[in-house]
Amino acid sequence: MSDHDSFSVALLEWFDVHGRKDLPWQQDVTPYRVWVSEVMLQQTQVDTVKPYFIRFMARFPTVELLAQASQDEVLSYWSGLGYYARGRNLHKAAQYVVNTCDGIFPDTLDGMMALPGVGRSTAGAVLSLALGQRQVILDGNVKRVLARYFAIAEWPGQLRTQKVMWSRAEALTPATQVNRYNQAMMDLGATVCTRSRPQCAVCPVSQGCQAFVRSEQARFPVSKPQKTRPVRYAYMALITHPEQGLYLQKRPPAGIWGGLWCFPEFQDKAEAMKWVEQKGWDCQDDDEWEPVPHTFSHFHLQIRPVLIKIKTERAVMEEPLALWYKGGGLSVGVAAPVSLLLDKFFKHERSEGDQE
Ligand code: ADE
Repeated sequence: MSDHDSFSVALLEWFDVHGRKDLPWQQDVTPYRVWVSEVMLQQTQVDTVKPYFIRFMARFPTVELLAQASQDEVLSYWSGLGYYARGRNLHKAAQYVVNTCDGIFPDTLDGMMALPGVGRSTAGAVLSLALGQRQVILDGNVKRVLARYFAIAEWPGQLRTQKVMWSRAEALTPATQVNRYNQAMMDLGATVCTRSRPQCAVCPVSQGCQAFVRSEQARFPVSKPQKTRPVRYAYMALITHPEQGLYLQKRPPAGIWGGLWCFPEFQDKAEAMKWVEQKGWDCQDDDEWEPVPHTFSHFHLQIRPVLIKIKTERAVMEEPLALWYKGGGLSVGVAAPVSLLLDKFFKHERSEGDQE
């Protein structure tokens, strides 16, 4: 027996005893029911899907009834499942099957993949689970099993890794009983080869598993490589006036923190002081606070807060995109580090007040 055969034999034996056989979509198996279940199961756990599937099938027992319904009604049955594009695609695909395929589900991989929302793995799952065809699947659970079994040391999100995984999955898939085998792979991934704390002691294929043999289960699947983000610096001026409060500006709609309210930002402290002076405000005191780090998707921002206490004889002018904030409830959106600095400022003020 080849290594590949021994993998599927061990897995199928395990499936006989431990596999899931009473899921709602495993009863009255038809391509329609299996397709709906597989789309619901993309990115969603079995326990969450079960009641949705049952309600959906009670209302739309056939592809014709689904195709005839309004999109709003279909989405109302999806409400709470998330990723609503799946529901919209399901509805479109039902109309396609009814109008273009005489209501008969495609029975080839390419035919299935022509349905909106059906990728290669979902197509393989429907054709194998519903029609018993020998088709390969590679969903998130299967990727995790393969990444560990073969100690695949590259992030599965990469195209190159996916190619490796598809060919590994293809080689392991047996010639017969593929419906049971595919269900067994998904069940193994969901119940034994779990993301954290996999149950290797009860795994039917642990003996051949490279990650298990090396005691490196936690290393696989490899996580997405972290990008190295450049560091940028910005001075944030906390300009405060004894009666007016703290000065906040509304940021332009585009760019980081678009439309949120922030302290004015400067390249350096001198630029901040000059800006204050140009406003006609008299700087009484200034104090640099500890930097506040903030990470964006593509850079780290090192915020250098500088507290600038001003005085002015003239009334402070109203500006359309600026406000003076005295504390208490704030009815505008502020960026996260600004909220943190506001808390710090008012705590600092209170403690100064207590000392006086
Ligand atoms: N995840 C995706 N398809 C599944 C299925 N048929 N059974 C259990 N989990 C799944």
